[in-house]
Amino acid sequence: MELDLEGEHAHRSYALLVSLVTPRPIAWVTSLSPEGHLNAAPFSFFNALGANPPIIGFCPGDRDDGQPKDTARNIRATHDFVVNLVDEELAEAMNETSASVPYGQNELEAVGLTTAPSSIVKAPRIAEVPASLECTEWGTLQIGENRLIIGVVKRIHVREELIDRETLRIRDDRFRVIGRMASPHWYCRTRDRFEMVRPK
Ligand SMILES: Cc1cc2nc3c(=O)[nH]c(=O)nc-3n(C[C@H](O)[C@H](O)[C@H](O)COP(=O)(O)O)c2cc1C
Repeated sequence: MELDLEGEHAHRSYALLVSLVTPRPIAWVTSLSPEGHLNAAPFSFFNALGANPPIIGFCPGDRDDGQPKDTARNIRATHDFVVNLVDEELAEAMNETSASVPYGQNELEAVGLTTAPSSIVKAPRIAEVPASLECTEWGTLQIGENRLIIGVVKRIHVREELIDRETLRIRDDRFRVIGRMASPHWYCRTRDRFEMVRPK
């Protein structure tokens, strides 16, 4: 079946795209308002985009009234943020923080999580996550209702047990990160892995 996202099937664009492009990593983004209020929200239109410099992108869609989501609003004003990665243990808390709450209200407090200061960006990171990326905003592309925020990763924080200090390799057998699957409510675990060596 061929689907026309510019015509008769346009209304299914979101559901089709997010059900097919799976699994997607989840950026649990912490940011600060100009007044210093903490915001946390998850985004699965997210990925690592390049290594030199190390860049990531994630994409909040605008609200129905055309206003940017709080995360996009904060980053437009403060130009930095932290991407916190989500493991199985934190899945439910992450989901809770996707609720729409009034601007300036701290979503993390409600789920009993805490923050740790970042080293070089203003926004704090979530203390309980397995790893987090301190980012500065490189730029934001507005494409229709999408705000594609591109960030340069300046620092990585990773839980001690997840990294080999000598080789700086992530012990991925211990990294229980989750992925986003089909809309509206599906996720996957990432424990079922296999190795395939790349040809020279
Ligand atoms: C796993 C997950 C992934 C999400 N991904 C996105 C996304 O990529 N883009 C988006 O606009 N909203 C996404 N959402 C919804 C936002 O998290 C939600 O709108 C949130 O209230 C935005 O918060 P903010 O206004 O504090 O930025 C996602 C929600 C969940 C639970």
